[in-house]
Amino acid sequence: MAKKKVQSAFFCQNCGTQSPKWLGKCPQCNEWNTFVEEVITKEEQTKTWNRINKVNTPVAINDITFSKEKRIKTKDTEINRVLGGGIVPGSVILLGGDPGIGKSTLLLQLALTSDKKILYVSGEESENQIKMRAQRVENSSGNCLILTETSTQNIFQQIEKVEPEILIIDSIQTLHTAHIDSSPGSVSQIRECSSEMIKYAKQTGTAVFLIGHINKDGAIAGPKILEHMVDTVLQFEGDRNHVYRILRTIKNRFGSASELGVYEMSQDGLREVNNPSEILISDRDEETSGVAIASTIEGARPLMIEIQSLVSSAVYGTPQRSATGFDNRRLNMLLAVLEKRCGFRLGVKDVFLNITGGIKPDDTAIDLAVICSVLSSDQDLPIGMQTCFAAEVGLSGEIRAVSRIEQRIAEAEKLGYKQIIVSKFNKFNPSHFNIVVKQCSKIEEVFQLLF
Ligand code: TYD
Ligand code: MG
Repeated sequence: MAKKKVQSAFFCQNCGTQSPKWLGKCPQCNEWNTFVEEVITKEEQTKTWNRINKVNTPVAINDITFSKEKRIKTKDTEINRVLGGGIVPGSVILLGGDPGIGKSTLLLQLALTSDKKILYVSGEESENQIKMRAQRVENSSGNCLILTETSTQNIFQQIEKVEPEILIIDSIQTLHTAHIDSSPGSVSQIRECSSEMIKYAKQTGTAVFLIGHINKDGAIAGPKILEHMVDTVLQFEGDRNHVYRILRTIKNRFGSASELGVYEMSQDGLREVNNPSEILISDRDEETSGVAIASTIEGARPLMIEIQSLVSSAVYGTPQRSATGFDNRRLNMLLAVLEKRCGFRLGVKDVFLNITGGIKPDDTAIDLAVICSVLSSDQDLPIGMQTCFAAEVGLSGEIRAVSRIEQRIAEAEKLGYKQIIVSKFNKFNPSHFNIVVKQCSKIEEVFQLLF
């Protein structure tokens, strides 16, 4: 047994900066009151994942033999796409999300349906609980092994026997390594356990999934550097009261970082939603005011979303502006454009905006739909469910061109819309489409066209 030297240090709970003494303000991330003392007992001889002790030497780039990276394709096409075409062996993927959103379900389902050898390590649930969940979601393929363990040393012992192709850790916050004495979930433990897992993944070429909890600000709990250490960061999000869940790439070293997968949480696990546009738009018999359909692009896919707003007279002196799924400041800006450039008196009205389905698009092409939905509610005139929009609105009320317009128009046509309103400045070939494409340059023109 190696000699131990007891040490303690202070760690910023936000970014993981280490300091020998307590500090009020973190010099790295400028957060206040984030330093907490943690006991770190470093053994002189650390035994982690050191099976292969290879020393790397410099190589000429021309001498590197390039084998086209083989990706592991899972049965889940949404995960494949979000990861950029399958799981890259040796990569470390961090999956974050709110408690109860379905992270364990998603990865257990992946483990159960794959024909690869998968080790699912759970530090949160017992074998019985996992079995109960497995029975709900899928008929097991028999290749999935379950281990309930939290010590990384014991996990590595089992890994040496099992040699899995994919390792799933649920969750990184429950792991602890013997090299550090602080409690599981503390910054130094998370950092050390993750770096052991990353070392293991790189040396053996095993793909590792780490489930990570998120704190109340929505960031992955633990040091911020965790996100820099791993190859891919995925976020599982959605409204827990809604059935739809969205898997989003935040960082990806092996593919696009703006991909998106959509799932539906059902009685028997998560189901892939292959055509999300259809589910994001609600069916209704009669036309209601305040509803507009926007064509947005999430990742590589066009997506039709429904925007609802409610404009009513303000009861109190200061009107309320509240948006779900849309940036509040951008809403204020668009309302100011309507007030100043088009003469609509919205300054004395409450405005509530909602993007249905619990998704938060990050695309300025929905501006025009937002404006039209607000105007429709304000004037109490329905737009009609046959019309959709794809354009950005500028500060002087001009309607601006957006990227990939042909893809957006094609999606609108595919879903059976009769007309789409886009900017006059967008160039495309009209002979490709049967849908009516109206081009406008000012909000007034759109208003006259619709109402
Ligand atoms: P879970 O995967 O445990 O969430 P996380 O690991 O992110 O904390 O998901 C639990 C929720 O999912 C729980 O509220 C119940 C729901 N659920 C279903 O609706 N159907 C199912 O088949 C399963 C397994 C879970
Ligand atoms: Mg869980």
